[in-house]
Amino acid sequence: MSKQVKIRRNTVPQIAARKGGEPIVSLTSYHAHTAAIVDKYADFILVGDSLGMVMHGMESTVGVPLDLMIMHGKAVVRGTEKALIVVDMPFGTYEESPAVAFRNAAKIMKETGCGAVKLEGGKRMAETITFLVERGIPVMAHIGLTPQSSHVMGGFKTQGREEDSWAAHLEDAKAVSEAGAFSVVLEGMVEPLAAKITKEIDIPTIGIGASADCDGQILVLEDMLGLNEWTPKFVKVYGDLGPAIERAVEKYADEVKDRSFPGEDQVYR
Ligand code: KIV
Repeated sequence: MSKQVKIRRNTVPQIAARKGGEPIVSLTSYHAHTAAIVDKYADFILVGDSLGMVMHGMESTVGVPLDLMIMHGKAVVRGTEKALIVVDMPFGTYEESPAVAFRNAAKIMKETGCGAVKLEGGKRMAETITFLVERGIPVMAHIGLTPQSSHVMGGFKTQGREEDSWAAHLEDAKAVSEAGAFSVVLEGMVEPLAAKITKEIDIPTIGIGASADCDGQILVLEDMLGLNEWTPKFVKVYGDLGPAIERAVEKYADEVKDRSFPGEDQVYR
C-alpha cells in the first residue's frame, strides 16, 4: 500500500509563481532554533555558505566544505515545517562539470531533506542548471556580487557601477532564467540594474543590497539581528542581540565572581 505524503512546506513552484506578486520574504539560518523562529515569517530559508564567515570565523566562503553545509542544512530542516529550505552548494562542488554538480547536489538533497540548492554564477553555469533541473534538482541562481569568486573580482564590490557592464549582468540573469532556475539572487548590485533585471526576466529576483523593486529580499539573519560587529552598509539592523548577549554574559560573570549566582534551590524549580 502506498503512503500519501502531505506536503506542508512551501514548494518551488509556489515561490516561482510569486513573480511580480506579493514580495517574497527570506532570511538565512544555520541552526534549528533560529530557523524555527524564522520559519513563522519566511517563504524560504537559505542555509547560506555565509555560515563559514558568520559562524565559523572564516575570512571568505571559499573554504566551506560540503559536509558542513549538509550538517547545518539538516539542522534547519529539522527545526522548520513551513518554509522552503534552500541549501548553498559550496565552492568547488559544482563548477567542474554538470555531472559533479549533480552528484553533490543530490547528496545535499538526500542527506538534508532540503527542497532546492543554490549556486553562484550566470551564463557560465547555465548548462549545469539545466542538467540539474532536468534530473529533479531545483536550482536558485545567484549573480552580481558572487562571494565565492571574490578572489577573481578583487574583493566584495558592488556590481554595475559602470553602465557599460549592465549588458553582461542582464545576459547572466536571462541565461539562468532560460536554463530553468526557479529564482535568482541579485547580490550587491546598483539599484537601477537590479530593477531592470527584475522587469526583464520571468523568474523572481531576490535582492540583497540590490533594489526594493526585486520580487523578494534576503538578509543574513545575524547581520539584521545586530550580532556582528561589522555589517555591510546596505543592511538595516532590526535587533541589538550582540549588545544584549554581552549584557547577559557580563551579568552572569559578575554574579559568579561575587558569589550571588543563585544556589541550587533557586535554579531548579
Ligand atoms: O551565503 C549566503 O548567505 C548568501 C546570501 C547572502 C544570499 O548567499
